[in-house]
Amino acid sequence: MRWLPVILFFLPTLFFAQDYAGEEAHGKFSYDQFEKPEACKSCHVDFYHQWQQTMMAQAYTHAWDEIEYFKLAVPHAAKEEKVAGVKDGCNGCHTPIAFLAGDTPPPLPEANSRANEAVSCDVCHTITGFKGDVPYNFNFISKPGRTKYGPKPGLESPHHRTEYNEFITTAEFCGVCHNEKSPYGAWVKATQIEWMEGPYSKQGVVCQDCHMPKAEGKNAIMVEENDMAAQHLFHGAHDEGKLRGVIEMRIHPRERELEPGETVVFSLQLHNAKAGHKVPSGSAEERVLWVHVEAVDAEGNVYHLPVDKKGFEGEEYTIASEALAYQDMGVPLGITDFKGIRREDVPIGDRIFRLPYLDPQGRMTIMQWHTASFGPDYRIGPRETKMETYTWDIPEDLAPGKVQIQASLYYRKLPKPVQEFLEVPAEESKEVLVNTAKTYIEILD
Ligand code: HEC
Ligand code: HEC
Ligand code: HEC
Ligand code: HEC
Ligand code: HEC
Repeated sequence: MRWLPVILFFLPTLFFAQDYAGEEAHGKFSYDQFEKPEACKSCHVDFYHQWQQTMMAQAYTHAWDEIEYFKLAVPHAAKEEKVAGVKDGCNGCHTPIAFLAGDTPPPLPEANSRANEAVSCDVCHTITGFKGDVPYNFNFISKPGRTKYGPKPGLESPHHRTEYNEFITTAEFCGVCHNEKSPYGAWVKATQIEWMEGPYSKQGVVCQDCHMPKAEGKNAIMVEENDMAAQHLFHGAHDEGKLRGVIEMRIHPRERELEPGETVVFSLQLHNAKAGHKVPSGSAEERVLWVHVEAVDAEGNVYHLPVDKKGFEGEEYTIASEALAYQDMGVPLGITDFKGIRREDVPIGDRIFRLPYLDPQGRMTIMQWHTASFGPDYRIGPRETKMETYTWDIPEDLAPGKVQIQASLYYRKLPKPVQEFLEVPAEESKEVLVNTAKTYIEILD
């Protein structure tokens, strides 16, 4: 009897010992335990075709993923003990079944192996929960087999058992891969954490509401059409339509009528109206979101207005310059004394909304796994409004008449110098216009 409390105390540990999650799950499963997406296609036709177009279906095969993993992460893991774990770790989120099968590094995408299935149907629909307090670093619990876990109770299928699991309807479910901690303990992805701290979590608006909107359709070909089918679109920063208008902008002058030689101040408001987390979120180490302001006088001359400095610590990271960065890439690339490449290729003086990721030596890095600390977080939070000002000394010889002021907000997924240097397809650094705002002033005679 004396032992009973002890046994009761350890009983749950015995039970949960079966639940591998995170790094300990490496090699605990085999590829065969997971069904191919094609096995789901025959009945879930629409969802299959939607999923195929998502970034998650390409999380292993997409060119930039292949380059970053094989050119930077794998050689870096071999050279630096501290980051040795990322050779396996990247796959925990990018090709979970290769990770669970212990296939490290997986064959190259061109080998067309099962690793190419990336974040597949069966990966998500056999997740039952996560281990720990915070979902991050692929700490999901996987239970592959006949049972597929979904958002509705009582559904029947000729191919599998179905079981309702509330977990799949929560933001934590996404957080298992959308929060990431580096080997140095830095939160290098925190989309679910940002969401949790923001207004949407309080209102019960989850990731699925914005990235998997419910619409009319069929869950499977043999069932009745209903208006509650969760669309498997998962559109994000790679979708120009999703990006467009995510930040609303307004600009106005403090005075409308001025004389040449006078000084005018413009206020620009930027409001995150559409995203449930910060913009940019996720792979923030490589996103460049910047605003460019120009004045065009009555004769068509163009004047570039650099942003007014606010004076906070580390502000230099948020103002476009000719600074060099990413020196730590020299290690995996085998270049000694690598001087780095341009941090961004953006008009000098423009404001950049970003979170600078800093390596152990305090230099900006795009290798998120090599992040030890951060510069100032100057991104736009959910429903946050940022204010920028622009002070312009109107040239003495400016032509009288209307001067048009235009603010344009641009987005690049990857800094152009990095895209060019690593020979990533040009698409990755394409400039996307997110929004514009206009105002005018009147120059008197
Ligand atoms: C032979 C047809 C068939 C195949 C193959 C099939 N399913 Fe289903 N599945 C269904 C039907 C029918 C339903 C019930 C739909 C309904 O009633 O709305 C269903 C429901 C589901 C649900 C919803 C469960 C819930 O609780 O909400 C999930 C998740 C699911 N399937 C996943 C998969 C996955 C993953 C695969 C491939 C590994 C797959 N299915 C293969 C027919 C199929
Ligand atoms: C990234 C994870 C993920 C992937 C990949 C994924 N699903 Fe889902 N699926 C979900 C989530 C989350 C839901 C529930 C959304 C909700 O109701 O809020 C869901 C819902 C479903 C449902 C029930 C739909 C409904 O509204 O009742 C079916 C059926 C389904 N998925 C099948 C599939 C099939 C087939 C594939 C592959 C072609 C697939 N899923 C890929 C996460 C995923
Ligand atoms: C098993 C890991 C995993 C889970 C679970 C997961 N994701 Fe992802 N997701 C990824 C990876 C990896 C990528 C990056 C794909 C790439 O670009 O290589 C990604 C990409 C995305 C993107 C595309 C972002 C862009 O830049 O365009 C969206 C949107 C997204 N996920 C939403 C979700 C949502 C919503 C959920 C929960 C319903 C979810 N994900 C669950 C791993 C996961
Ligand atoms: C209120 C709607 C909304 C909610 C809630 C929401 N998102 Fe988003 N998400 C967006 C919009 C709009 C974008 C496009 C703007 C952007 O890329 O930042 C986006 C972009 C993303 C991206 C790409 C980010 C980048 O900068 O590369 C990822 C990844 C993502 N969402 C995942 C999630 C996850 C995971 C959750 C839940 C924790 C979530 N989203 C909740 C609207 C939402
Ligand atoms: C905890 C899960 C997780 C781990 C671990 C992880 N990633 Fe990712 N990765 C993601 C998610 C989620 C996204 C999408 C975020 C977004 O779009 O903002 C992503 C995006 C990317 C992208 C694409 C960015 C783009 O512009 O499309 C690359 C490349 C990438 N990861 C490489 C790696 C490498 C290399 C490693 C290992 C050193 C790694 N990832 C580890 C979850 C992870």
